[in-house]
Order: sequence, then structure tokens, then C-alpha cells
Amino acid sequence: MATEQPTSTTRAGLAPGAATGDATAVAHPNIALIKYWGKRDERLVLPWTDSLSMTLDVFPTTTRVRLDPAAGQDTVTLDGVPLEGEPRRRVVAFLDLVRERAGRASRAVVETRNTVPTGAGLASSASGFAALATAASAAYGLGLDATGLSRLARRGSGSASRSVFGGFAIWHAGQPDHGADPDLGSYAEPVPVPVDELDPALVVAVVDAGPKAVSSREAMRRTVDTSPLYRPWAASSQADLADIREALRRADLDAVGEVAERNALGMHATMLAARPAVRYLSSATVTVLDAVLELRRSGVSAWATMDAGPNVKVLCRRAEADRVAGVVREAVRGGSVHIAGPGPAARLLDADA
Ligand code: PMV
Repeated sequence: MATEQPTSTTRAGLAPGAATGDATAVAHPNIALIKYWGKRDERLVLPWTDSLSMTLDVFPTTTRVRLDPAAGQDTVTLDGVPLEGEPRRRVVAFLDLVRERAGRASRAVVETRNTVPTGAGLASSASGFAALATAASAAYGLGLDATGLSRLARRGSGSASRSVFGGFAIWHAGQPDHGADPDLGSYAEPVPVPVDELDPALVVAVVDAGPKAVSSREAMRRTVDTSPLYRPWAASSQADLADIREALRRADLDAVGEVAERNALGMHATMLAARPAVRYLSSATVTVLDAVLELRRSGVSAWATMDAGPNVKVLCRRAEADRVAGVVREAVRGGSVHIAGPGPAARLLDADA
């Protein structure tokens, strides 16, 4: 039976679009099983391919946006430390977009608390921009539904479009010729999955929590522009998506894992073939991949996926997650290992909660 997926909520008692001037939201990271890699429009953050993910129940980001009409500029802090440089510029550009849509000039104070290691390929930008989109649209009174929030979050970071939803979500690339406004065609939506039957967990092996050497933005650009493997991967990814949707519908974890692992390895192959090559995978990554293979040989269903960093997420059955985590912990030595299940949608927190 399909499990109903939670969608984004608005604060009770408020008319849609009413600006609160002060809103706090929480969102969780997601891990793509079919990857997003490569933009066809950098300004609008429109991808070449559809992607599909599971939102996690660990590592939430909480963001408060408070309008400050007297301020001359935005104040942005992450875990109490003022953001500077490119990370600050991205948040301010996002607020400018919200202000333009709201027709309001007020600057804001943005306070973010992250529980995920920032910049380590663990999708802190996904939870970060999903929380920022949810809080900022409420503070400025945009009155968006979940689809609108997903489109908006996409502008901050593509993967954030999926973190607006809980459970499993698909992000539609949209058609290149989608009428006059291509923004409208590209958003995420929940994928109905028999979650209890599938019983999925992702064992997250943090082998290196440091920031990545090449941003995913730059790495995607280089891959699309120079990798001879990019187009073939994009085409095969569309087929992978159809296969994984069917496997999810059947609650066939082995089939889901097999498709997810080949899709991720293919994505990394496109980067390795870029000029110059982008290599996020380290020797520690390969050690974990060996352990995953060993688990499979011993009859445990375990499948790996990696993003823009060396960390590995292992898809397995929740019932076997402790065993998988134990084997992975042995393999990473010194790193940390976390067990995640399907998590909730982005949501506003009550002002007095
Ligand atoms: O977080 P972004 O929007 O810069 O994109 C990162 C993309 C991957 O994490 C590598 C894959 C994905 O679909 O999340």
C-alpha cells in the first residue's frame, strides 16, 4: 500500500501570503538515488535530467528569517558565525529573488543552525536552501504552496527542491521548450512508495567532514562542457529513473539499490572523464565500497551511492542497518557512521514552539 507522504505545511491561522516578518523553518537533507548532475540553465538552476531522492530523518537545518526594515544590508550567520564571500553572496542573491517577488525591500537577519557537516557532499545545501526558502517565503509573505516552494528552493541549490518534501521525491527537469516561463516546469513532488514494505535505511559513512576542493557548481559546469561521457550518462539516467520507480513501486530493495549504485558510479565516471578530471572519491571511499561488496557477497542487501565528496551512503534494509553500520565503521576507522531513515518534509516552526 502506498504510504502518504507529508507535504510542506504553513503556520496555522495565517491567511496564505500574510507576511509574518519573522519565521523559522526546519528542513532535512536528501540523498539522490538517481542523481542530478549538470545544469542546462545556470541562472534558473534548470537541470538536464530528472532526479529522485530520499529525504533523511537526520541532520536537520533550522533557519530563522527576521525582517529588519532599518538595516542597510542582510545579516547572515551559520551556527553563530557571520557568513562571508561566496556562501553569503548566494544567500543574499536568494533573498533578493524573494524580495523581488514579494515587492518588498526590507533587509533580513538570517540565522541558520546546521547539524550536517557543511560542504562535505552530504547535501547541507539541500536542507539549507529548503529551510531558507520555507522561512523566507513566510517572512516576506509569498504564500507559496509546496510546489512553489520547491521551485523557489531550486534557485538556491538544485537539490534543495527535493528537500521540500519528505520520504521519496522526484525533481522534474522540465521541458527545454516549456512555454514562455521555463521556471514553471522544474519542481519536485513526492513519489508514493510502500515505505513499510521497502523498509529502507541509508548508512552514512563520513570518511572526511572537511569542505570539498571543487564546488559542485564548478564541477557540474566542467563535466557538462568537457566530459565525453556526460551525454551517454544523462541518457542512461533517464532509463535508470524508469527502472528505479518500478523497483520502488514493487518495494524491491535489491533492484532499487542496484540502479542507485550504477547511476552514482556513472555520474562519477562522467567527472573522471572531464578535462581536467574532477575526482571526489578518495582511497577511504574505495575502502567502504569494498566493504559494501563484501556485505553483498555475504548475503546482505547493501548498495552504495556517493555525491560531490568522498563520503558513502549505503542503502540497506532498516532491519540490517546496525550490521551494515558495524561493517562500515570497521572500514572507515576514524570517520563517523550514522543511520538514517526516510525523513519529514520541510516545515515552519510555530513562533512560540
Ligand atoms: O547540492 P547541489 O544542488 O549543488 O547538487 C549536488 C548534486 C549531487 O548531490 C551530487 C547529486 C544530487 O542529486 O543531489
